[in-house]
Formats: sequence, C-alpha cells, structure tokens
Amino acid sequence: MKMSKSIILWLVLILGACVKTFGQADKNMMPKIIEKNGHYALLVNGEPFFMLGAQAHNSSGWPAMMPQLWSAVEDIHANTLEIPIYWEQIEPQEGKFDFSMIDTLINQARQHNVHLVLLWFATWKNGSNHYMPEWMKRDAARYPNITSKNGQPVDSPSPIVTATMQADINAFSKVMRYLKQTDNLHTVIMVQVENESGAWGSVRDYSPEAQKLFDRPVPTELLTPNVLKALNVSVVLKGSWQQVFGDRSDEYFQAWYVARFIGQVAAAGKAEYPIPMYVNDALRDPITNPMATTYESGGPTDNVIPIWKVAAPSLDLLAPDIYLSGSEKVLKVIDLYDRADNPLFVPEAGLIPDNAKYLYEVIAHGGIGFSPFGIDGNKSGLTNIEVNHRLEPFAKEYIMAAPIMRALAKWSFEGKIKAVVEHEDHAAQTIDLGAWQAVISFGDSIKNISKEAIQANGKLMIVQLDENKFILIGDYCHITFKPTGSNLGKAWQYLKVEEGYLDRGVFKAERILNGDETDWGGPRLGTTPTILQATLLVR
Ligand code: DGJ
Repeated sequence: MKMSKSIILWLVLILGACVKTFGQADKNMMPKIIEKNGHYALLVNGEPFFMLGAQAHNSSGWPAMMPQLWSAVEDIHANTLEIPIYWEQIEPQEGKFDFSMIDTLINQARQHNVHLVLLWFATWKNGSNHYMPEWMKRDAARYPNITSKNGQPVDSPSPIVTATMQADINAFSKVMRYLKQTDNLHTVIMVQVENESGAWGSVRDYSPEAQKLFDRPVPTELLTPNVLKALNVSVVLKGSWQQVFGDRSDEYFQAWYVARFIGQVAAAGKAEYPIPMYVNDALRDPITNPMATTYESGGPTDNVIPIWKVAAPSLDLLAPDIYLSGSEKVLKVIDLYDRADNPLFVPEAGLIPDNAKYLYEVIAHGGIGFSPFGIDGNKSGLTNIEVNHRLEPFAKEYIMAAPIMRALAKWSFEGKIKAVVEHEDHAAQTIDLGAWQAVISFGDSIKNISKEAIQANGKLMIVQLDENKFILIGDYCHITFKPTGSNLGKAWQYLKVEEGYLDRGVFKAERILNGDETDWGGPRLGTTPTILQATLLVR
C-alpha cells in the first residue's frame, strides 16, 4: 500500500507531538513556573526541576571571588548557584552599563554545569540602600531614605519615590534585556528582585510626602472582601489607611508601596525577558503575630502576603529566608508560604546542620528549590576545613538527590511525596499512606549516643508508588508500618525491602534487606542518605 506524502507528513507530526507529550527535554524552552491541580513546578528545559541550591556570600559576585566559590559549589554538590549582581557594579555611572560580570557568571556556570539564580541587589538589600550606585547615594535629595515617626533619618530607601523606582526600572530592564540576548541556553533560571526589602528601624516612611499618601483613601484594589478577609480586618469599603487598617495601618501602607515599587521593577524586567521572578523575606515570628516594630516592616512577611499578591502580580512567588530556629517555627513558615497562590521556594536557610533536613519538607510540600546561605565562608573568615564541615550535612543530601532530582521534582509536582523531619524532642512521627501508616522514630536508638548530645537531624521522605509499594529516602531514622484503613487489624509482613538507586525514576535494586536490617519492625536508615523500596503484604 502506498501512502501519500501528506499522510506521511501528518504521521511524522503526530509522532513528534507524542514524543513531546511524554516529556522529552526541550533545550530551547525558557524556564517557567507551571501549576496543575494546586501543585507547582519549575520547568527547566521543559521538565520539572528542583533547585538543589547554594547561595554565595553577599560580596562574592566579583571575578576574584569565583575560584573559592566554585570550589564550595562543587563541595556541596549543588545544581544551582544563587549569586548577587550589584546595581553599583552594573551601572557605576548614571546611564553607563557594564555587564561583564554577568558574562563571567554565565560562562563559568556553564563550565561547572550548574544553573544560576541572579539576585538583583539594587534599591533594597536587607532593607537598606547599600548596593545602590554611588551616584545615587551621593544624591540623597533625589533618592531619599525614609523618615521615622520622630523625624529622624532611617537607613532605608523610601518606597514612594518615583525617581528611585524609575532608575531601578531602567537598570533592571537593561539587565534583563542583556540576559535575553546572551543567555540562549537558559543558564539563568530565576531572578530575585531586590533582597529582603522593607525597613528596619521604622514601620513606614513618615516624611511629609508619605504622610499625604497615608491620609488618602486606601487603593480600591485592596478593598475587596477577599483581600480584607485574608488580612483579618472587617470589610470596610472605603477610608484612609488608619480608618481601614487601624493599628496595622503603618505596616500595611509600607508593604503596599514597597510591593508596588518592586512589582513595577519586576514587570519592566519581564517585559524584556519573562523568566520567573521572586522576592525573599526576612521573616517575622510565625506563631505570635508580633507588631512590625519587631521585624523588617513592609517586606513580604506572612501577614502581608495578600497585599503583595495584589500589589505585585508580576512576581511569581514570595520566598521565606529561614534563619529561625526550632522545627515548630520552621515548619510553620513552610506551611505559611506554601499557598495555592504561592509556589514554595526557600532561597536562604542558615548554614547550620539542623537545617539540611528541611530540604525534605520543601520537596514534600511541592516546593521548587532550597538553598543554604553563605556557602563560600567568605564573610566569616572560616578556614576551608571549617567551611567544608558546615557544608557536609547539605552535601550528603545533595549527593543523594542530585542524580534523582528530575524524578523527585516530578513526584513532588504530582503530590506523591510525604516527609517527616526530626523535632527537638526526638519524638516518633507518623505518615498516613492510605491502607498503611508509616511510623518513624528517631533518637538514640538510631544514633547510639545520649539524646541531649544529638542533633535533631533525622528525616525521611516516602514516595507512594502504589497501595503497597513505597520508595523510602532518608537518614538517622527507623521505619515501621501499621496496617490501617482497609487493612486495619490484618496480619502483615514485608514482601521485601530492597536497597538500590533510581535510574530515570525507576528503582533498581542492588540487594534485598530481609534479614537483620529489617527485623524489629523495619529498616533503620543510618548516617548516609539511603534509597529503599519497601513492598508490604497483608496475610
Ligand atoms: C539574609 C540576607 O538575605 C542575606 O543577604 C544575608 O544578609 C543573610 N541574611 C545573613 O548573613
């Protein structure tokens, strides 16, 4: 039988479409964030990608710092480097731009086979203007800081000043235009706009110009029942900031103007080159609902997320920087930033051993990335050995996760991963898995040392493959199962527990552990992250 040319062409096109549908990487596709059934994924080369990140110290984005930084990136086994680019470096004189450091970063990242998240240190860095170019710092009248309630100058740029915003928009647009021209391989996968914006030392700008705005009616975009309910205030459909928001009005005013400013910077950048953009947050206490005098006011703290979402729709997400200690607070923060309207990303976590475990929580929450801060030890004057020691808890997890990152990202996007991390009381925890409940214990029975002396560093994630089959990944814990739901009361056993690895998302066994390793309830995962597949059976 002979086929006409057009039928053959159609068959080729249909076949091509099928290959794409089933997830072949598309090298030309721009990075983007997608949502499906309430889950988010960051697509890199067209497939879900999880950033096993590492953030450089604040002043490492200079050529002389790169060798030390790359050696830390290698030691930690990150797949993504988060690194600042500085407005003062890029526009040293008004209107004169120098993008050479961007070239350096992209070229070197490609040589090291990692992606980049660029951090635009511009109008705000930790609430101050310290990375603005000199020509702006010298012109305080044109680019003013905020004024405190008692009329004192505060070391924080004013969010209501159009000249500052226009200058930032101009520079950031040029950066994004340059990236579009240069980064044809999409080495840069996200951009952070500013760094921990807001103000320390004053809840808002109290300058006469700001006061005029404060006394005007609240913008109508904020006066919708949904936003007002989310902000926990009664629905008032008009009024000044003070009338509508009462004792929170100063903070909400500041949040609105900071978010509007940054939203416009991000929108202008996206008009040049629309890759994912986010802001990071200096957190407030997530449990006690403190007032903004105790934290950086106006940044995307958990209580003002609804304001940021309305004021800055160009941002893909608001991200928490985790420097709080204690699992109760950290887990609360993760819950607060994992929202239907906000993909979860932790761009900074303190470089302390206990924090490595939160990687598991972020993956299980469907997050898109996680990163400790300050991997190159450059600020703290630590020796290389001391720095390596600090990187080790993260490196161990990244060594496990890097080769299986695409599978983890896909399962995370599909909502198939659950996790627990050890709390400071080392108490056992459970994970519900339908017809089974996993019971995970931690502590001295695993670590063989006194409870007081040990870190709370146990962690486990479970990928549910089918009703009775699970992939278990973790360390410093002991797992057993209980039949529940339709299995309740039934006798059961492990059909087998296998140890192995994942090859493109498919588990490959290296050995079966049905002896001492799984007696007394189930497997114990030791000091190195291990990948097991457990198949359970009711009798
Ligand atoms: C959070 C900031 O975002 C970082 O740039 C850095 O200043 C750390 N805090 C603390 O070193």
